[in-house]
Amino acid sequence: MKNGYELFVRPLLFSLDAETAHHLTIALLQRASHFDPALRVLRSLQPSSKPKALFGLNFPNPIGLAAGLDKNGVALPAWAALGFGFIEIGTVTAKAQPGNPKPRIFRLPEQQALINRLGFNNDGADAIAQRLAALRDNGLWPAVPVGINIGKSRTTPLEQATDDYLYSFRMLRDFADYITLNISSPNTPGLRELQEPERLSELLYGIGKEAGTAPKPLVVKISPDLSGTELKAILVVCEENGVSGIIATNTTLDHSSIDQTGGLSGAPLRHKSTALVREINARSTIPVIASGGIFDAESAREKFQAGAVLIQLYTGLVYRGPQLLREIMERL
Ligand SMILES: Cc1cc2nc3c(=O)[nH]c(=O)nc-3n(C[C@H](O)[C@H](O)[C@H](O)COP(=O)(O)O)c2cc1C
Repeated sequence: MKNGYELFVRPLLFSLDAETAHHLTIALLQRASHFDPALRVLRSLQPSSKPKALFGLNFPNPIGLAAGLDKNGVALPAWAALGFGFIEIGTVTAKAQPGNPKPRIFRLPEQQALINRLGFNNDGADAIAQRLAALRDNGLWPAVPVGINIGKSRTTPLEQATDDYLYSFRMLRDFADYITLNISSPNTPGLRELQEPERLSELLYGIGKEAGTAPKPLVVKISPDLSGTELKAILVVCEENGVSGIIATNTTLDHSSIDQTGGLSGAPLRHKSTALVREINARSTIPVIASGGIFDAESAREKFQAGAVLIQLYTGLVYRGPQLLREIMERL
């Protein structure tokens, strides 16, 4: 049976082009974030709580918002009101940037999937730090953990990637409960090369050195397109550098039958992504946050059974709406 979002909201949003629908949704949630009666309405959708502790943080439930939906961190109170157990904003880059030319998000309704080649369009670390400071100063900071996902600016050469990440890290760490290093988006040329052991070591060492006396948990987000050998090498480097968690996975480039450039997310990514969660769990003790193709309680359960401690939603929300959270929590 279809839920209220699928019956009434999705047809309206899907009558618009995908990026327009996205901007409209974010604009409404941004407004709602500053309007108490609207937050009360959103709270009526909240799932039951099922607390979980991970890297010293308390999560009211294990379902998080995946990076990319609120790249600029404009709607934190609304996400918390909807009942997310944690919220990851970003990807934020050191420099503000417009991203790739439009159109750059495509729906594939038959496959319950999206393809995007946004390319880290975002307001940049300075503007986002200011926005987060204002939110905190106005007493609107959410009560759930907030992760900040950072990536490399497009115009920064790969050789200077560490400095570029460091800039965002310094600007944003005070606002973050954890920091995610995104080294796996397929839409910034060369970014995925940061998954190579030497480059990853350099990045983790650079950030680790900067972390100070009260370091924030550092999480690495990886691609689903890694070979077994590549994954093994990444895990060794992450363990050597005391990484707190791994997000598995980002979008995939493995979609030869679909004639559109970009990263594929949603249902077709589900099993590939789960297989990676299982493999990480078998090889390492680093906790895993699972992301990829979670559309219902069954696909969420699959991630936990594969060893995930927390999960994150993106494409499932676009297709199933915020009631998905309650559906998962009630049927897990
Ligand atoms: C339109 C779109 C934009 C995204 N932007 C980002 C991003 O900026 N940073 C990031 O780490 N992941 C980004 N992702 C990846 C998601 O966070 C998630 O890891 C991936 O889509 C797999 O989960 P899903 O199948 O539930 O969508 C994006 C995904 C989509 C569909």
